[in-house]
Amino acid sequence: MDLSNKIIAVVGGAMGIGRATAELCAKRGATVVVADFNEIEGKATAEAIGGMFIPVDVTNEASVQAVFDKIDATYGKLDVLLPTAGILLGAYVDIEDLTSDTFRKVYEVNVLGSFLCAKYAVPLMKKAGKGVIVYVSSGAATGVSSSYAYGSSKGGVLSLGITSAGKLAEHNIRVNVLSPGNIATYMKLSVIEVEAQQRGITLEERLKAYNLGDPSGMAKVLAWLASDDADYVRGTIQTR
Ligand SMILES: NC(=O)c1ccc[n+]([C@@H]2O[C@H](COP(=O)([O-])OP(=O)(O)OC[C@H]3O[C@@H](n4cnc5c(N)ncnc54)[C@H](O)[C@@H]3O)[C@@H](O)[C@H]2O)c1
Repeated sequence: MDLSNKIIAVVGGAMGIGRATAELCAKRGATVVVADFNEIEGKATAEAIGGMFIPVDVTNEASVQAVFDKIDATYGKLDVLLPTAGILLGAYVDIEDLTSDTFRKVYEVNVLGSFLCAKYAVPLMKKAGKGVIVYVSSGAATGVSSSYAYGSSKGGVLSLGITSAGKLAEHNIRVNVLSPGNIATYMKLSVIEVEAQQRGITLEERLKAYNLGDPSGMAKVLAWLASDDADYVRGTIQTR
């Protein structure tokens, strides 16, 4: 899988799946832009792979716009957008106890954030006459999530991807949606910790009930979807 000559933006690339993907894309020859809320980890990731770091809060439109303005000014193009930023709040909270603030916050990062990234990436792709976007939904979108807010927000991301795929195809922009299963990242481990606390057991004990995948596994799928090798792939990719 060759990604040389590609400019790839990993928005949410500081940690977890995004970080592993940024690392693999760079290894495969891409010039990778890491954008993230977490400046310390984001800079460390970018430095480790020889890429550029741009701070961003995906819930803030001006901040997202600034990322793509910077990419345009620096490289004059964007081949691939991987908006991996996401949060999971409200795990195991009953619907009657879930606050609208929590619900809104999750939607702002997961749904609004994915939309804003695409909104400002697409003009660069239209200018070039081609591009690739891989949104990150979750198995939680179509299964039973630990969180009403998270599961339904990921349904929103899935639908955003399906709509984008249909509407952007005429501009030669290929859109896929990746729906990962359980991957060992800060996000997933935090949820399992809540679960363990509720059951009165240790995190280690609770982890035995899971067969968590490694973020590098998701990186392989995302990097492949970003590559020309996946040119014939359409729609949603469900993984473990
Ligand atoms: N880990 C899993 O089991 C799993 C399963 C299905 C889907 N996902 C999805 O994969 C994606 C990556 O998650 P992960 O598991 O690697 O989590 P993670 O917590 O390790 O990483 C999430 C990244 O998003 C960034 N981020 C959060 N809020 C942001 C904001 N407002 N602006 C910019 N960046 C922000 C964080 O700083 C972090 O770098 C998410 O969209 C998540 O929903 C994860």
